[in-house]
Amino acid sequence: LAGIAGVAAVVSLLTACDTISTTAVIPRDFVNELAIPPEAPSSLEDGVRTFRLTAEAGRTAFAGVEPATATWGFSGSFLGPTLRAQRGERVAFEIENDLPEATSVHWHGMHLPAAMDGGPHQMIAPGDVWRPTWIIDQPAATLWYHPHPHGATEQHVYRGLAGLFILDDDASLSAALPQDYGVDDLPLIVQDKQFDDDGRLVLRDDGSEPGSLGDTIMVNGTVGAYQEVTTERVRLRLLNGSTARTYTFEIPDRQMTLIATDGGFLDAPLPMEQVRLAPGERAEVVVAFAPGETVRLRSAKTQLGGILLPGTSGGNDAFDVLEFRAASSLTPSPEPSWPRAADAVADEMHEDEASTNRSFVLEEREINGERMDMSRIDEVVHVGDTEVWTVRSSQPIPHSFHIHDVQFRVLTIDGSAPPAKLAGPKDTIYLEPNREYRLLVRFEDYADPEMPYMYHCHMLLHEDEGMMGQFVVIEPGQEDQVKAPDTVMP
Ligand code: C2O
Ligand code: CU
Repeated sequence: LAGIAGVAAVVSLLTACDTISTTAVIPRDFVNELAIPPEAPSSLEDGVRTFRLTAEAGRTAFAGVEPATATWGFSGSFLGPTLRAQRGERVAFEIENDLPEATSVHWHGMHLPAAMDGGPHQMIAPGDVWRPTWIIDQPAATLWYHPHPHGATEQHVYRGLAGLFILDDDASLSAALPQDYGVDDLPLIVQDKQFDDDGRLVLRDDGSEPGSLGDTIMVNGTVGAYQEVTTERVRLRLLNGSTARTYTFEIPDRQMTLIATDGGFLDAPLPMEQVRLAPGERAEVVVAFAPGETVRLRSAKTQLGGILLPGTSGGNDAFDVLEFRAASSLTPSPEPSWPRAADAVADEMHEDEASTNRSFVLEEREINGERMDMSRIDEVVHVGDTEVWTVRSSQPIPHSFHIHDVQFRVLTIDGSAPPAKLAGPKDTIYLEPNREYRLLVRFEDYADPEMPYMYHCHMLLHEDEGMMGQFVVIEPGQEDQVKAPDTVMP
């Protein structure tokens, strides 16, 4: 009852034309083995790790929703392989676009030059190949990649263009953590989809907030998935790869140990009952299992002060996401711990170093009263500077705020220190309505007055409709060279 009253309260706060999406998730039998995205092959020569990817159209038969339906994927019909590289390596890509329309590939969470970022200014025309390259220069983390064509990101990601990009470093490789990919170290790309009566993948376009919610939950493209567990502990690399839905992950009556957020490890393992992830956010958790048990990861209601937030569990109180089936005897796993990377200590930011404050108000598909304009640079930042970005959703709807190129730290939420789960490195943050988030950001290097990075809402309908802005990083003195590229959409 409180939930229903909560929905009503939110609805009454929205303007007359907004409705909130209340799509109920269809309950499933968990009888399909979880698909694990393959690790992408790469060749390492002279310190350069080279990958090949093709954005392509195909058909996918999702279990329980056959027949096959039209989907897109990277080097496959749906989603993409897991990319993996180590700190210090140079990576190089050959990305071919075999789709009938232009797309791009953005490296979400990556610190890299703006021209390699894969945002809306690095479009790949049909039939073309894009060759970005950069040096991995940040701590171990679970990042991801997806298209970023302005106005069409929701469609491209929804059809299946997304994959994980795992970064390793000395600290992560020597950590006492499950690291056997696909066995006790599981990538989990969680998405909601909608199928029409003929089994076609469709994007619900009903104008509801905060965008399209699907009634079918899939993990790595598997609907009703189960995973066999053979070790005492399993590491889950959770990505909310949905276009609009926020999840509150939990395993009833069990603590999960949060080890990492978007940009890498926390300072210490953190026991959690629930892990909330907005679109674009990641978390790594370690879960302990008992021999022979079957348990389910599920998403609970996402509530705030008794109010059920729009774009969360929709018409369900909670729904199951993935089943774990533990073997009758389990291989021992260590208690999670990791060395603190020397680089992470050196990289630490301090608020007293901040030279500039900027503020960002998200409202009505605009940031600070403006919709995204590819030819307008909104913010000019000096290379090497540390800044405080103050961000707020001034409507009763939440947003998912993402900044390219950087990992930020949350300084305060409504003036108070953030909870420990939000104290680690982040590139995307769920903005609860009408709260003020102060973020500490440093723009380390890669000055380029003519190529912007993006900041935006990662609820992809909001992004496509204009809730995005552009910043350039420049050397002091380059002010008069600042200009947006004349990107012509191919
Ligand atoms: Cu994950 Cu600008 O995007
Ligand atoms: Cu938004």
